[in-house]
Amino acid sequence: MSIAFLNDSYIPITEAKISPLDRGFLFGDGIYEVIPSYQGKLLGFKAHIDRMLDGLSGIGLKLNWSHSDWQDMCEKLAVQNGNGNLGIYLQVSRGADIKRYHAFPEAVSPTVFGFTFDIPSPPVADKNRAKSYTVSTSEDLRWQRCHIKSTALLGNVLHFQEGYDQGNDETLLYNKRNELTEASACNAFIVKDGVVITPPLGNQLLPGITRNMLVDILRKDGSINVEERVVTMEEVRGADEVWITSSTKEIGAVVSVDDAPVGDGKIGDVWLAAQALFSSHKYDY
Ligand code: PDD
Repeated sequence: MSIAFLNDSYIPITEAKISPLDRGFLFGDGIYEVIPSYQGKLLGFKAHIDRMLDGLSGIGLKLNWSHSDWQDMCEKLAVQNGNGNLGIYLQVSRGADIKRYHAFPEAVSPTVFGFTFDIPSPPVADKNRAKSYTVSTSEDLRWQRCHIKSTALLGNVLHFQEGYDQGNDETLLYNKRNELTEASACNAFIVKDGVVITPPLGNQLLPGITRNMLVDILRKDGSINVEERVVTMEEVRGADEVWITSSTKEIGAVVSVDDAPVGDGKIGDVWLAAQALFSSHKYDY
């Protein structure tokens, strides 16, 4: 039985209950995180909590929890759920009022929720063992605050479903100017002539922890050039490699975009080098 945290207790997930007037339920009014934990080792913990605190302050949700409160909760959840390969999900909503009213309620305590789910063992830098991904593409129709990791994910869910319905693993998104933003639940990268390129941070995409760690690891290593700049969809279609990154996937090599092969349609050599560097340095963060 999976153990969850709700407000101040650790309880079996099947016993966790919230009010239907919770603003997370009514409005998607909350912030969430997903932190990988491999045999009890949390990956990118500080960066994940920093991002969650930025998100909370971005939506004016006050919660008096320090990094060590979150760490304590994550460690307890990991232990109580077997300390294997886990995604630790954290969510804070603005809480349950006694009425449905758009304005922020006063004197309502936030709802704090955490649970874990099983994730695969971490990807290894081995072309024969790595999962390869196929993606669709679609115009990004989400809101203009995509840097906030809001629980209001319907826009992302609908985009994910478009790719899924076409038999693909993800959907790459582009803005009105035909520029790549990210994917429905991942950041996106291309590789051209050995250079790794990813769209710049801003309100069009989530500041992915995996994205940011990867850019930093590549820059510190110095053997592969990396650029943060606008990427057009023409560049995506002409890329030698396309990657999607997220906490649970790390670097996912995309082998087809809208059914057309990426490069030679196989996992690329730059992916191999980048995943090897990521695997060696990911616990430095
Ligand atoms: N998704 N962009 C979006 C829209 C995302 O939802 C995610 C993560 C990412 C990658 O961020 P990170 O590297 O910090 O995981 C980018 C999570 C895992 C999810 O919603 O399940």
